[in-house]
Amino acid sequence: MPYKTRSVISRVITLTGLIALVLFSWLLEVHGYWDFPPVPPLEEFGNLLINRISEKNGIKAVTFSHWIHRQKHTCRVCHFELEFNMKVNTTEITESANSSGKFCGTSGCHDGRIAFGHDKPNCEKCHNGNRGYGKEKFSTLSGLPKTGFGNGINWVKALKKGLIAPAHYLTIKPSEDISYETTLLLEAEWEKIPPAIFPHRAHTQWLDCNNCHPDIFNIKKKTTKHFSMSLNLKGEFCGVCHLSVAFPMNECKRCHVDITKETK
Ligand code: HEC
Ligand code: HEC
Ligand code: HEC
Ligand code: HEC
Ligand code: HEC
Repeated sequence: MPYKTRSVISRVITLTGLIALVLFSWLLEVHGYWDFPPVPPLEEFGNLLINRISEKNGIKAVTFSHWIHRQKHTCRVCHFELEFNMKVNTTEITESANSSGKFCGTSGCHDGRIAFGHDKPNCEKCHNGNRGYGKEKFSTLSGLPKTGFGNGINWVKALKKGLIAPAHYLTIKPSEDISYETTLLLEAEWEKIPPAIFPHRAHTQWLDCNNCHPDIFNIKKKTTKHFSMSLNLKGEFCGVCHLSVAFPMNECKRCHVDITKETK
């Protein structure tokens, strides 16, 4: 090989090496920069122990699984119609409210007809203090489309393909006049990061406008202040849902569609 060609090749190799090194160290930097919450097993992602008043009253904490419930009802039903907050142990759920047809005991839910009710034999199905309760049923979801994070289930595709058909309301029908399907591109403030995508449709199929506007997000693009990854990871903004119930922040690519790597 002539000397000239060799030197060109070696320069190209060095250059590629350098670029790779820069990219690699940048990725390390990004990934070391933020603290991701620990990743639970697939069948425990979105599972909660509700214990605002249980143990204080001499009974075990209540187990609640999002993957069991979201197959049958959208987030809107519980977090808008039934007024459960999106933060564990902040809703004033009591057993007397349950027994009189509120919260878990709402008609059409744990009312003793549709799902098990609030009578003696059933106390321990809720009050068992076991976050993994019901995990043997997780295998019934094995036919749903896969993804690498969260429950390992792509809930967007599962819904789109009609493999699940969660009810979107119990009594308060969403207003058909207020439909909004715009996809927004939220530019990241770091130049090497492709923008995050925000598709309204993938959200309004599960949620009510009220779940996000105006408490979490302003209703005008890029006007929500301090909208950064570190705050997302602290459970604000996108992180209200995308840490504990919707696919977690580790799955970079589903928001920053053009990003090249993900983290565990
Ligand atoms: C469908 C689920 C479910 C069932 C069934 C259920 N509970 Fe509860 N219960 C809850 C939830 C949720 C709370 C609120 C827990 C918290 O915040 O600590 C609660 C709260 C309680 C509390 C706390 C004090 C209070 O006054 O609210 C007691 C005691 C209690 N339940 C007893 C029972 C008993 C006894 C049974 C069976 C007869 C029962 N529960 C059945 C879900 C259930
Ligand atoms: C069957 C009712 C139900 C459905 C459906 C439901 N949730 Fe929840 N969710 C709850 C309850 C109950 C809590 C606990 C509230 C409390 O303790 O104050 C909760 C808590 C949460 C939390 C807080 C978790 C934490 O660690 O603090 C988030 C986030 C959340 N839900 C998001 C969602 C999203 C997103 C959906 C739809 C994909 C959804 N939920 C569907 C009932 C439901
Ligand atoms: C999961 C959360 C979420 C839900 C649910 C949601 N939005 Fe939004 N919406 C956003 C975000 C995020 C933005 C961008 C805010 C920003 O950039 O500061 C936005 C922006 C908007 C904007 C401004 C767009 C622009 O170009 O300036 C409108 C209008 C809007 N939403 C209407 C609605 C309506 C109507 C519904 C219900 C049908 C709805 N949204 C449901 C999160 C949501
Ligand atoms: C109130 C809860 C909530 C908030 C806040 C929220 N999301 Fe979501 N998002 C969901 C749910 C639920 C889904 C359905 C998928 C799932 O559960 O894993 C979803 C789906 C998505 C999808 C669809 C992915 C696909 O495969 O098509 C994208 C992209 C997304 N969210 C981005 C965002 C961004 C960016 C933000 C912040 C600006 C945000 N979300 C805020 C609940 C939320
Ligand atoms: C649920 C959606 C979502 C996921 C998942 C997500 N991001 Fe973001 N990211 C955003 C949003 C929204 C912004 C803010 C965009 C803006 O400035 O308007 C952002 C901003 C950023 C920024 C710019 C700096 C900053 O703090 O604002 C970087 C860098 C970034 N993300 C990297 C990542 C990496 C790496 C991952 C995976 C480990 C990831 N993101 C996962 C939504 C997401």
